[in-house]
Amino acid sequence: MHCCQYYHATGDGDPAFTVDVPQFTFGAGCLAECGAHAKTLGLRRVGLFTDARVARLPSIETVKRSLRDAGIDFAVYDEVRVEPTDESLQAAAKFAAEGKFEGFVSIGGGSVIDTCKAANLYSTYPADFLTYVNAPIGGGQPVPGPLKPHIACPTTSGTGSECTGISIFDLLSMKAKTGLMSRHMIPTLALVDPLVTKSLPRTVVAASGFDAMSHALESLTARSHATRSRSGIASQRPMNQGANMWSDMGAREALRLIGRHLVHAVNDPSDEEARANMMYAAMVAGMTFSNAGCHLPHGMSYAVSGLVREFRAPDYPPNEPIVPHGMSVMLNAPAVYRFTAPACADRHLEGAQCLGADVRGATPADAGEILAQHLIGMMQATDFPGGLEYVGYSERDVDALTDGAYPQQRVIKNAPRDVSKDDLRGIFRNAMRYW
Ligand SMILES: [Fe+2]
Repeated sequence: MHCCQYYHATGDGDPAFTVDVPQFTFGAGCLAECGAHAKTLGLRRVGLFTDARVARLPSIETVKRSLRDAGIDFAVYDEVRVEPTDESLQAAAKFAAEGKFEGFVSIGGGSVIDTCKAANLYSTYPADFLTYVNAPIGGGQPVPGPLKPHIACPTTSGTGSECTGISIFDLLSMKAKTGLMSRHMIPTLALVDPLVTKSLPRTVVAASGFDAMSHALESLTARSHATRSRSGIASQRPMNQGANMWSDMGAREALRLIGRHLVHAVNDPSDEEARANMMYAAMVAGMTFSNAGCHLPHGMSYAVSGLVREFRAPDYPPNEPIVPHGMSVMLNAPAVYRFTAPACADRHLEGAQCLGADVRGATPADAGEILAQHLIGMMQATDFPGGLEYVGYSERDVDALTDGAYPQQRVIKNAPRDVSKDDLRGIFRNAMRYW
Protein backbone atom coordinates (compact mmCIF):
# COMPACT_ATOMS: atom_id res chain seq x y z
CA MET A 1 0.00 0.00 0.00
CA HIS A 2 1.64 3.25 -1.01
CA CYS A 3 1.27 6.64 0.60
CA CYS A 4 -1.75 7.81 -1.39
CA GLN A 5 -3.72 4.71 -0.52
CA TYR A 6 -2.80 4.96 3.15
CA TYR A 7 -4.19 8.48 3.24
CA HIS A 8 -7.28 7.88 1.13
CA ALA A 9 -10.28 8.84 3.30
CA THR A 10 -13.27 6.56 3.24
CA GLY A 11 -16.68 6.89 4.89
CA ASP A 12 -16.53 9.23 7.85
CA GLY A 13 -12.70 9.55 7.74
CA ASP A 14 -11.06 12.99 7.92
CA PRO A 15 -9.17 13.73 4.68
CA ALA A 16 -7.40 16.74 6.27
CA PHE A 17 -4.89 17.17 9.08
CA THR A 18 -3.62 20.14 11.12
CA VAL A 19 -0.02 20.78 12.19
CA ASP A 20 1.09 22.97 15.09
CA VAL A 21 4.81 23.49 14.69
CA PRO A 22 6.46 24.33 18.01
CA GLN A 23 9.04 27.10 18.14
CA PHE A 24 12.57 25.99 18.93
CA THR A 25 16.22 27.03 18.95
CA PHE A 26 18.76 24.25 18.46
CA GLY A 27 22.53 24.33 18.73
CA ALA A 28 25.60 24.09 20.94
CA GLY A 29 25.61 26.80 23.61
CA CYS A 30 22.07 28.10 22.99
CA LEU A 31 21.20 27.59 26.66
CA ALA A 32 23.04 30.84 27.34
CA GLU A 33 20.34 32.65 25.34
CA CYS A 34 17.66 31.73 27.87
CA GLY A 35 17.61 35.08 29.65
CA ALA A 36 17.50 37.04 26.40
CA HIS A 37 14.56 34.97 25.15
CA ALA A 38 12.75 35.42 28.46
CA LYS A 39 13.27 39.17 28.20
CA THR A 40 11.93 39.19 24.63
CA LEU A 41 8.83 37.44 25.98
CA GLY A 42 8.42 40.35 28.42
CA LEU A 43 9.16 38.32 31.55
CA ARG A 44 10.52 39.99 34.68
CA ARG A 45 10.09 37.14 37.18
CA VAL A 46 10.11 33.42 36.35
CA GLY A 47 9.78 30.10 38.15
CA LEU A 48 12.79 27.91 37.29
CA PHE A 49 11.90 24.20 37.40
CA THR A 50 14.45 21.40 37.68
CA ASP A 51 15.18 18.22 39.65
CA ALA A 52 17.74 17.27 42.29
CA ARG A 53 20.21 15.77 39.77
CA VAL A 54 20.12 18.58 37.20
CA ALA A 55 20.26 21.16 40.00
CA ARG A 56 23.90 20.13 40.53
CA LEU A 57 24.95 20.35 36.87
CA PRO A 58 26.74 23.21 35.12
CA SER A 59 23.84 23.64 32.65
CA ILE A 60 21.56 25.12 35.26
CA GLU A 61 24.26 27.62 36.20
CA THR A 62 24.33 28.69 32.54
CA VAL A 63 20.58 29.31 32.65
CA LYS A 64 20.71 31.17 35.98
CA ARG A 65 23.56 33.37 34.74
CA SER A 66 21.71 34.25 31.56
CA LEU A 67 18.58 35.14 33.53
CA ARG A 68 20.58 37.36 35.90
CA ASP A 69 22.38 39.00 32.96
CA ALA A 70 19.00 39.81 31.42
CA GLY A 71 17.82 41.33 34.71
CA ILE A 72 15.21 38.65 35.31
CA ASP A 73 14.28 37.68 38.84
CA PHE A 74 13.70 33.95 39.47
CA ALA A 75 12.96 31.36 42.12
CA VAL A 76 14.11 27.73 41.80
CA TYR A 77 11.90 24.66 42.29
CA ASP A 78 14.18 21.59 42.36
CA GLU A 79 11.78 19.09 43.89
CA VAL A 80 10.47 17.67 40.63
CA ARG A 81 9.92 13.93 40.93
CA VAL A 82 11.35 11.60 38.28
CA GLU A 83 8.14 9.98 36.91
CA PRO A 84 5.74 12.60 38.38
CA THR A 85 2.59 11.80 40.34
CA ASP A 86 -0.60 13.80 40.90
CA GLU A 87 0.81 14.72 44.32
CA SER A 88 4.13 15.91 42.96
CA LEU A 89 2.39 17.97 40.25
CA GLN A 90 0.12 19.61 42.81
CA ALA A 91 3.10 20.51 45.00
CA ALA A 92 4.74 22.10 41.95
CA ALA A 93 1.53 23.94 41.07
CA LYS A 94 1.39 25.33 44.62
CA PHE A 95 4.92 26.69 44.21
CA ALA A 96 3.95 28.19 40.85
CA ALA A 97 0.85 29.86 42.28
CA GLU A 98 2.60 31.30 45.35
CA GLY A 99 5.58 32.60 43.38
CA LYS A 100 3.57 35.17 41.40
CA PHE A 101 5.59 34.38 38.28
CA GLU A 102 5.06 35.90 34.85
CA GLY A 103 6.40 32.82 33.16
CA PHE A 104 8.46 29.65 33.57
CA VAL A 105 11.74 28.06 32.56
CA SER A 106 12.20 24.31 32.87
CA ILE A 107 15.54 22.54 32.60
CA GLY A 108 15.70 18.77 32.85
CA GLY A 109 14.31 15.58 31.35
CA GLY A 110 10.70 14.91 30.43
CA SER A 111 9.60 14.73 34.06
CA VAL A 112 10.79 18.29 34.72
CA ILE A 113 9.26 19.77 31.58
CA ASP A 114 5.98 17.88 32.10
CA THR A 115 5.82 19.07 35.71
CA CYS A 116 6.38 22.66 34.65
CA LYS A 117 3.55 22.40 32.08
CA ALA A 118 1.15 21.16 34.76
CA ALA A 119 2.28 23.79 37.29
CA ASN A 120 1.78 26.48 34.66
CA LEU A 121 -1.72 25.14 33.90
CA TYR A 122 -3.00 24.86 37.48
CA SER A 123 -1.49 28.15 38.62
CA THR A 124 -2.98 29.96 35.61
CA TYR A 125 -6.40 28.27 35.65
CA PRO A 126 -6.87 26.87 39.19
CA ALA A 127 -9.25 23.92 39.35
CA ASP A 128 -9.75 20.56 41.02
CA PHE A 129 -6.85 18.43 39.90
CA LEU A 130 -8.93 15.96 37.87
CA THR A 131 -10.69 18.71 35.88
CA TYR A 132 -8.23 18.79 32.96
CA VAL A 133 -6.98 15.20 33.25
CA ASN A 134 -7.70 13.01 30.22
CA ALA A 135 -11.09 11.28 30.27
CA PRO A 136 -12.26 8.77 31.35
CA ILE A 137 -9.97 8.93 34.39
CA GLY A 138 -10.31 12.70 34.64
CA GLY A 139 -12.93 15.26 33.61
CA GLY A 140 -11.30 15.87 30.23
CA GLN A 141 -12.20 19.58 30.34
CA PRO A 142 -10.36 21.65 27.72
CA VAL A 143 -7.67 24.03 28.99
CA PRO A 144 -9.54 27.38 28.96
CA GLY A 145 -6.93 29.47 27.12
CA PRO A 146 -3.26 30.36 26.70
CA LEU A 147 -0.89 29.67 29.58
CA LYS A 148 2.01 31.82 30.77
CA PRO A 149 5.17 31.72 28.62
CA HIS A 150 7.30 28.61 29.19
CA ILE A 151 10.85 28.13 27.92
CA ALA A 152 11.71 24.41 28.00
CA CYS A 153 15.36 23.28 28.03
CA PRO A 154 15.70 19.49 27.71
CA THR A 155 18.75 17.78 29.22
CA THR A 156 18.03 14.32 27.81
CA SER A 157 17.72 13.28 24.19
CA GLY A 158 14.46 11.40 24.33
CA THR A 159 11.06 12.49 25.51
CA GLY A 160 10.61 15.39 23.11
CA SER A 161 8.49 16.95 25.86
CA GLU A 162 9.90 20.38 24.94
CA CYS A 163 7.82 20.23 21.75
CA THR A 164 4.61 18.55 22.95
CA GLY A 165 1.46 19.67 24.74
CA ILE A 166 1.42 16.53 26.89
CA SER A 167 2.17 16.02 30.59
CA ILE A 168 2.21 12.40 31.83
CA PHE A 169 1.95 11.36 35.50
CA ASP A 170 0.95 8.54 37.87
CA LEU A 171 -2.45 8.96 39.49
CA LEU A 172 -1.59 7.38 42.82
CA SER A 173 -5.11 6.52 43.97
CA MET A 174 -5.75 4.44 40.83
CA LYS A 175 -2.18 3.26 40.23
CA ALA A 176 -2.65 4.45 36.65
CA LYS A 177 -0.58 6.53 34.27
CA THR A 178 -2.60 9.24 32.66
CA GLY A 179 -2.01 12.76 31.44
CA LEU A 180 -2.93 16.29 30.64
CA MET A 181 -3.04 17.30 27.02
CA SER A 182 -3.60 20.59 25.25
CA ARG A 183 -2.11 22.70 22.48
CA HIS A 184 -1.92 25.47 25.10
CA MET A 185 0.61 23.35 27.02
CA ILE A 186 3.16 23.27 24.17
CA PRO A 187 6.12 25.28 25.54
CA THR A 188 6.43 28.76 24.05
CA LEU A 189 10.02 28.04 23.10
CA ALA A 190 12.27 24.99 23.26
CA LEU A 191 15.97 25.69 23.82
CA VAL A 192 17.74 22.54 22.73
CA ASP A 193 21.44 22.62 23.51
CA PRO A 194 23.35 19.39 22.75
CA LEU A 195 26.16 20.40 25.14
CA VAL A 196 23.93 19.39 28.07
CA THR A 197 24.06 15.71 27.12
CA LYS A 198 27.77 15.52 27.96
CA SER A 199 26.94 14.59 31.53
CA LEU A 200 24.24 12.03 30.71
CA PRO A 201 24.82 8.54 32.12
CA ARG A 202 24.78 5.59 29.74
CA THR A 203 21.43 4.04 30.74
CA VAL A 204 19.72 7.41 30.49
CA VAL A 205 21.06 7.93 26.95
CA ALA A 206 19.87 4.45 25.98
CA ALA A 207 16.40 4.62 27.57
CA SER A 208 15.66 8.13 26.37
CA GLY A 209 17.09 7.41 22.92
CA PHE A 210 14.88 4.34 22.51
CA ASP A 211 11.92 6.43 23.69
CA ALA A 212 12.64 8.88 20.86
CA MET A 213 13.03 6.05 18.40
CA SER A 214 9.70 4.63 19.46
CA HIS A 215 8.01 8.02 19.10
CA ALA A 216 9.16 8.09 15.47
CA LEU A 217 8.39 4.45 14.70
CA GLU A 218 4.96 4.57 16.32
CA SER A 219 4.15 7.75 14.35
CA LEU A 220 5.23 6.14 11.07
CA THR A 221 3.14 3.02 11.70
CA ALA A 222 0.16 4.73 13.37
CA ARG A 223 -3.32 4.46 11.93
CA SER A 224 -3.84 6.86 9.02
CA HIS A 225 -5.35 10.26 9.86
CA ALA A 226 -7.85 9.56 7.10
CA THR A 227 -9.41 6.81 9.21
CA ARG A 228 -10.06 9.15 12.14
CA SER A 229 -13.74 9.85 12.46
CA ARG A 230 -14.80 13.41 11.64
CA SER A 231 -16.82 14.29 14.70
CA GLY A 232 -17.22 17.63 16.43
CA ILE A 233 -16.07 20.93 14.96
CA ALA A 234 -14.07 20.23 11.79
CA SER A 235 -11.40 22.84 12.47
CA GLN A 236 -10.77 21.64 16.03
CA ARG A 237 -8.82 18.48 15.35
CA PRO A 238 -7.24 16.70 18.29
CA MET A 239 -3.49 17.02 18.72
CA ASN A 240 -2.92 13.33 17.94
CA GLN A 241 -4.53 12.79 14.55
CA GLY A 242 -2.84 9.65 13.25
CA ALA A 243 -0.09 9.29 10.66
CA ASN A 244 -0.04 11.97 7.98
CA MET A 245 2.33 13.29 5.32
CA TRP A 246 3.94 15.78 7.70
CA SER A 247 4.48 13.34 10.55
CA ASP A 248 5.96 10.85 8.06
CA MET A 249 8.60 13.44 7.18
CA GLY A 250 9.63 13.87 10.82
CA ALA A 251 9.49 10.15 11.56
CA ARG A 252 11.72 9.22 8.62
CA GLU A 253 14.36 11.82 9.46
CA ALA A 254 14.36 11.01 13.17
CA LEU A 255 14.70 7.27 12.44
CA ARG A 256 17.53 7.89 9.98
CA LEU A 257 19.47 9.91 12.58
CA ILE A 258 18.69 7.52 15.44
CA GLY A 259 19.68 4.49 13.36
CA ARG A 260 23.02 6.09 12.65
CA HIS A 261 23.79 7.60 16.06
CA LEU A 262 21.97 5.94 18.99
CA VAL A 263 24.36 3.03 19.59
CA HIS A 264 27.41 5.33 19.37
CA ALA A 265 25.81 7.92 21.67
CA VAL A 266 25.26 5.21 24.31
CA ASN A 267 28.61 3.46 24.02
CA ASP A 268 30.94 6.42 23.60
CA PRO A 269 30.23 9.44 25.83
CA SER A 270 32.96 11.38 24.01
CA ASP A 271 31.13 11.08 20.65
CA GLU A 272 29.73 14.59 20.62
CA GLU A 273 28.44 14.30 17.08
CA ALA A 274 26.36 11.23 17.97
CA ARG A 275 24.92 12.88 21.08
CA ALA A 276 24.12 16.12 19.22
CA ASN A 277 22.37 14.20 16.47
CA MET A 278 20.37 12.26 19.05
CA MET A 279 19.32 15.53 20.69
CA TYR A 280 18.04 16.86 17.38
CA ALA A 281 16.38 13.57 16.44
CA ALA A 282 14.59 13.38 19.79
CA MET A 283 13.18 16.87 19.30
CA VAL A 284 11.98 16.08 15.78
CA ALA A 285 10.46 12.81 17.00
CA GLY A 286 8.70 14.77 19.77
CA MET A 287 7.01 17.10 17.28
CA THR A 288 6.15 14.11 15.15
CA PHE A 289 4.39 12.02 17.77
CA SER A 290 2.72 15.08 19.25
CA ASN A 291 1.04 15.38 15.84
CA ALA A 292 0.51 11.75 14.80
CA GLY A 293 0.19 10.09 18.22
CA CYS A 294 1.83 7.00 19.64
CA HIS A 295 0.26 3.57 19.77
CA LEU A 296 0.92 0.16 21.35
CA PRO A 297 4.50 0.38 22.69
CA HIS A 298 3.49 3.48 24.67
CA GLY A 299 0.01 2.23 25.52
CA MET A 300 1.55 -0.92 27.01
CA SER A 301 4.46 0.87 28.69
CA TYR A 302 2.37 2.46 31.41
CA ALA A 303 1.50 -0.94 32.87
CA VAL A 304 5.15 -2.04 32.65
CA SER A 305 6.39 0.99 34.59
CA GLY A 306 3.38 1.07 36.94
CA LEU A 307 3.53 -2.56 38.12
CA VAL A 308 7.29 -2.60 38.78
CA ARG A 309 8.28 -4.59 41.87
CA GLU A 310 12.02 -4.78 42.53
CA PHE A 311 13.80 -3.62 39.40
CA ARG A 312 16.06 -0.63 39.81
CA ALA A 313 17.55 0.82 36.65
CA PRO A 314 21.22 1.77 36.84
CA ASP A 315 21.88 5.54 36.63
CA TYR A 316 18.37 6.39 37.92
CA PRO A 317 17.42 7.54 41.45
CA PRO A 318 18.26 4.50 43.66
CA ASN A 319 15.65 5.05 46.37
CA GLU A 320 12.79 3.20 44.67
CA PRO A 321 12.12 0.55 42.01
CA ILE A 322 11.83 2.05 38.53
CA VAL A 323 11.51 0.92 34.94
CA PRO A 324 12.36 4.20 33.18
CA HIS A 325 9.81 5.36 30.62
CA GLY A 326 11.93 4.68 27.53
CA MET A 327 12.80 1.21 28.80
CA SER A 328 9.17 0.32 29.51
CA VAL A 329 8.31 1.41 25.97
CA MET A 330 11.14 -0.33 24.15
CA LEU A 331 10.72 -3.69 25.86
CA ASN A 332 7.34 -4.05 24.14
CA ALA A 333 8.42 -2.78 20.74
CA PRO A 334 9.71 -5.89 18.88
CA ALA A 335 6.65 -7.92 19.91
CA VAL A 336 4.34 -5.07 18.91
CA TYR A 337 5.75 -4.71 15.39
CA ARG A 338 5.55 -8.45 14.77
CA PHE A 339 1.82 -8.01 15.55
CA THR A 340 1.13 -4.76 13.65
CA ALA A 341 3.21 -5.37 10.51
CA PRO A 342 0.43 -7.08 8.52
CA ALA A 343 -1.63 -3.86 8.72
CA CYS A 344 0.92 -1.71 6.85
CA ALA A 345 3.92 -3.86 5.97
CA ASP A 346 5.51 -1.22 3.74
CA ARG A 347 5.67 1.25 6.63
CA HIS A 348 7.31 -1.32 8.90
CA LEU A 349 9.87 -2.08 6.20
CA GLU A 350 10.48 1.61 5.62
CA GLY A 351 11.03 2.13 9.35
CA ALA A 352 13.55 -0.70 9.42
CA GLN A 353 15.29 0.69 6.36
CA CYS A 354 15.50 4.21 7.85
CA LEU A 355 17.12 2.67 10.93
CA GLY A 356 19.73 1.00 8.74
CA ALA A 357 18.35 -2.51 8.15
CA ASP A 358 19.00 -4.23 4.85
CA VAL A 359 15.55 -4.72 3.33
CA ARG A 360 16.62 -5.74 -0.19
CA GLY A 361 14.43 -8.50 -1.51
CA ALA A 362 12.11 -8.32 1.52
CA THR A 363 8.46 -9.18 0.99
CA PRO A 364 5.57 -7.72 2.99
CA ALA A 365 5.41 -10.98 4.94
CA ASP A 366 8.97 -10.37 6.21
CA ALA A 367 8.31 -6.82 7.45
CA GLY A 368 7.51 -7.47 11.12
CA GLU A 369 10.39 -9.87 11.60
CA ILE A 370 12.95 -7.64 9.87
CA LEU A 371 11.97 -4.65 11.98
CA ALA A 372 11.81 -6.67 15.21
CA GLN A 373 15.23 -8.22 14.58
CA HIS A 374 16.77 -4.83 13.84
CA LEU A 375 15.39 -3.40 17.09
CA ILE A 376 16.64 -6.40 19.04
CA GLY A 377 20.09 -5.89 17.50
CA MET A 378 20.12 -2.27 18.69
CA MET A 379 19.03 -3.36 22.18
CA GLN A 380 21.86 -5.90 22.33
CA ALA A 381 24.40 -3.38 21.04
CA THR A 382 23.56 -1.07 23.96
CA ASP A 383 23.40 -3.79 26.69
CA PHE A 384 19.68 -3.08 27.07
CA PRO A 385 17.39 -5.51 28.93
CA GLY A 386 16.26 -8.26 26.56
CA GLY A 387 12.57 -8.31 27.41
CA LEU A 388 10.10 -7.93 30.27
CA GLU A 389 11.66 -10.86 32.18
CA TYR A 390 14.83 -8.82 32.57
CA VAL A 391 12.94 -6.19 34.61
CA GLY A 392 11.18 -8.71 36.82
CA TYR A 393 8.05 -9.87 34.99
CA SER A 394 7.03 -13.40 34.11
CA GLU A 395 4.22 -15.28 32.40
CA ARG A 396 2.25 -14.99 35.67
CA ASP A 397 2.06 -11.20 35.21
CA VAL A 398 0.54 -11.25 31.73
CA ASP A 399 -3.04 -10.78 32.97
CA ALA A 400 -2.13 -7.93 35.32
CA LEU A 401 -0.10 -6.19 32.60
CA THR A 402 -2.98 -6.61 30.15
CA ASP A 403 -5.53 -5.28 32.65
CA GLY A 404 -3.25 -2.31 33.30
CA ALA A 405 -2.70 -1.53 29.63
CA TYR A 406 -6.11 -2.21 28.11
CA PRO A 407 -7.76 0.98 29.47
CA GLN A 408 -5.18 3.05 27.53
CA GLN A 409 -7.60 2.98 24.60
CA ARG A 410 -6.84 6.52 23.43
CA VAL A 411 -3.34 5.38 22.50
CA ILE A 412 -4.11 1.75 21.65
CA LYS A 413 -6.77 2.82 19.13
CA ASN A 414 -4.05 4.66 17.22
CA ALA A 415 -2.47 1.31 16.27
CA PRO A 416 -2.79 0.39 12.60
CA ARG A 417 -4.95 -2.64 13.40
CA ASP A 418 -7.64 -3.36 15.98
CA VAL A 419 -6.35 -4.80 19.25
CA SER A 420 -8.43 -7.13 21.43
CA LYS A 421 -7.62 -7.94 25.03
CA ASP A 422 -6.42 -11.36 23.89
CA ASP A 423 -4.15 -9.75 21.31
CA LEU A 424 -2.67 -7.62 24.07
CA ARG A 425 -2.08 -10.70 26.22
CA GLY A 426 -0.27 -12.33 23.31
CA ILE A 427 1.96 -9.31 22.71
CA PHE A 428 2.96 -9.12 26.39
CA ARG A 429 3.71 -12.85 26.33
CA ASN A 430 5.91 -12.40 23.25
CA ALA A 431 7.72 -9.47 24.87
CA MET A 432 8.98 -11.52 27.85
CA ARG A 433 12.32 -12.61 26.38
CA TYR A 434 13.93 -11.73 23.05
CA TRP A 435 17.21 -13.54 23.66
FE1 LIG B 1 7.66 8.42 25.23
